[in-house]
Amino acid sequence: MKPDNQNYTILLVDDEPGIRNVLDITLTHAGFKVWPASNGDQGWDLFRENHPDIVITDIKMPGIDGIDLLKQIKEISPDTEVIMITGHGDMDLAVKSLQYEAADFITKPIDSAEIETAVQKAVDRISINTRIRSYMADLEQLIKEKDRAIDESRTLSTIGQTIAGMSHVIKNIAGGLKGSSFILEQGIENENREYLVKGWEMMKKNIDKITNLSLDLLNYAKTTRLEFKPCHPDDPVKEIKALLDHQARQAGIDLTVTLLGSDDIRVNMDAKAIHTCVMNLAANALDAFEIPEDPEQTRQVHVFVQQTDDAVVYQVHDNGMGMNQTVQQTVFKEFITTKGTRGTGFGLMTTRKIVEEHHGDIGFTTREGKGSKFWITIPLLKKNPKGD
Ligand SMILES: Nc1ncnc2c1ncn2[C@@H]1O[C@H](COP(=O)(O)OP(=O)(O)OP(=O)(O)O)[C@@H](O)[C@H]1O
Ligand SMILES: [Mg+2]
Repeated sequence: MKPDNQNYTILLVDDEPGIRNVLDITLTHAGFKVWPASNGDQGWDLFRENHPDIVITDIKMPGIDGIDLLKQIKEISPDTEVIMITGHGDMDLAVKSLQYEAADFITKPIDSAEIETAVQKAVDRISINTRIRSYMADLEQLIKEKDRAIDESRTLSTIGQTIAGMSHVIKNIAGGLKGSSFILEQGIENENREYLVKGWEMMKKNIDKITNLSLDLLNYAKTTRLEFKPCHPDDPVKEIKALLDHQARQAGIDLTVTLLGSDDIRVNMDAKAIHTCVMNLAANALDAFEIPEDPEQTRQVHVFVQQTDDAVVYQVHDNGMGMNQTVQQTVFKEFITTKGTRGTGFGLMTTRKIVEEHHGDIGFTTREGKGSKFWITIPLLKKNPKGD
């Protein structure tokens, strides 16, 4: 008897008392816990009650026969090892039982060595399967832990990049504040009103910058609660045109828009968020021209509103300076700015975030010295893409 056998239980179903008793004695002697049953119905009841690891069943029995019992068992417990006992000439039934995933079959007259070997093989399979399951569980756990570690390191690296970008902007503002306090000090020491006014103006500008920066940070960090309302996709662009017209004219830029035009279009979208996105793209386009002005160049920024079957598309084209490789690779990933103290690098990061929250897309093409084309697509809503 193998000591391990005590850990396994066997349901034994046979209507012939002689065979049942011999098998019961043999298997109990080998160390197994055995439940004998004299027919299929009793076997099924015992199975559901005790969930044995192994079932040995005669194939031909009155009432529920061996094949039916096998099918029922496999339906609720596919891992149970079922060994069939067959008589001579039951070959068809034996083959059928293998189709229903019987583990093995032994033929009458039963030889106890044969039954012990069949049961031992079943025990080995159960123990291998248990080990495989435990390895798989360990592996899944390991993969989950590794995934978590990767997520954490990604988050840390994003946080790192954000802090690096921020510290650059904050350093610029701190430099401005230091400069203005120096001028104010000079004004106070020398009782020079001109210095006082100049220092104070500078200080106010830098206070505005730090206030805007913290607002940008807050806006970026919080999850936008999108408010979808039916609105005309042209509306945000009309407002932007009105807001930027003066600035564009002063910079000698021809700011034009192509609207959908038709009055009866209404799209369910968060107009305020879309306004922010297109505004960021348009503001960048206006910034894309070298100062001083090149007399040869006609400066153009064009904003398009288009509609496809399933999305509203906003495009902003400019014939400005374009972007170099480094900027192209990082604009959507880091708070990068090439505008010194005038920029924060929040524009495109915020735009990308809003577009993603709308389940939309953002992209661009650009050529250095020739200009850039930015676009965003906002899918037309079936109902609610996110939140409410
Ligand atoms: N149309 C464009 N043409 C050329 N460069 C662009 C254009 N749009 C974006 N960029 C480049 O991408 C950088 C990041 O743009 P983003 O809008 O994120 O920040 P920013 O404009 O520098 O600052 P902010 O938007 O906070 O004022 C810009 O500094 C600029 O170098
Ligand atoms: Mg910008």
